[in-house]
Amino acid sequence: MTLEEIVTPLKTLWKFDYETHVQALRDLYEMAKKEQWNAASDIPWDLEINKEGVGDILDPDGERFPRYDFVKALSDETREQFAARRSAWTLSQFLHGEQGALLCCGQLVEAVPDIDGKLYAATQVIDEARHVEVFHRYITRLDQVYSIEPSLYAVLNAILEADLWQMKCVGMQVITESLAMGTFKTMKENTQDDLLRSVVELTAQDEARHVSYGLIYMKEELPRMSDPDRERVEDFALAAVRLLTTGGGGAADSAGGGILSSREAVYTELGIDYDKAMAEISEKANDPEFVNSGPRMFEDHVIPQLQRVGLVTDRVAPGYRELGFDV
Ligand SMILES: [Fe+2]
Ligand SMILES: [Fe+2]
Repeated sequence: MTLEEIVTPLKTLWKFDYETHVQALRDLYEMAKKEQWNAASDIPWDLEINKEGVGDILDPDGERFPRYDFVKALSDETREQFAARRSAWTLSQFLHGEQGALLCCGQLVEAVPDIDGKLYAATQVIDEARHVEVFHRYITRLDQVYSIEPSLYAVLNAILEADLWQMKCVGMQVITESLAMGTFKTMKENTQDDLLRSVVELTAQDEARHVSYGLIYMKEELPRMSDPDRERVEDFALAAVRLLTTGGGGAADSAGGGILSSREAVYTELGIDYDKAMAEISEKANDPEFVNSGPRMFEDHVIPQLQRVGLVTDRVAPGYRELGFDV
């Protein structure tokens, strides 16, 4: 079994003032306690997976996927297999992201300075544990777990290795959680598989709380920070968005047991020419009509939240525009 080690400069803070100072975080803590669910008994695990229907999660409107020439060329049977594998690959990235969130929240319990922030973060630790449990269980029934993509691994490690807890909070709670919440909601609305719908419905409910934590806490905290530290958080947010939207890579070649590209394996093992398929995908990514028909996770879910907490300042806005965002 693979074990990857990173060394983090984590500052652990005790807080001996137990009074509530950030009421909104205390309210969220109360809500989190009430909304707990059990991954083992609250999901209808006895349902059969509708493998064909699951494939739609990668193509929320159900229209983009069949328009790729390399998909049109597949036999019905291979197309179904490809859809299931590709879904398992995508869900695997979320599974690894859930573990990243679990580790990050453990850090937040230690590193945040407010008792309200610590108590809430403790509830998120068990939420993320539950998410790891459900996604692992679902993926292994669908197909298998694939290794983590280098760019995702690099972002998660940057969050875990950050020296300011505010960077962790922005990287995980505002950026990554918004992305997860948006994706799970889209999956819930579009998947034809009832078991997956049940998994992402309950998970998205938790993720909405996780985003709220980031928004409430960062709105409170960012104005309290020194200018140089706040600018570091702004830069960190932009770097994370850049890495997640443009790929990057190279930072984690040995992630997931040394398998260089599990995404490639999804294609090649079914006899699909990976380079040709990638060429078609990037060609269509530049076609405005094609792109507009798909989901816009960053535009609709991530960038608005960063703007809401005040992290898209005039100083960093050009960087977002370079990435194609209208800020
Ligand atoms: Fe999660
Ligand atoms: Fe989360």
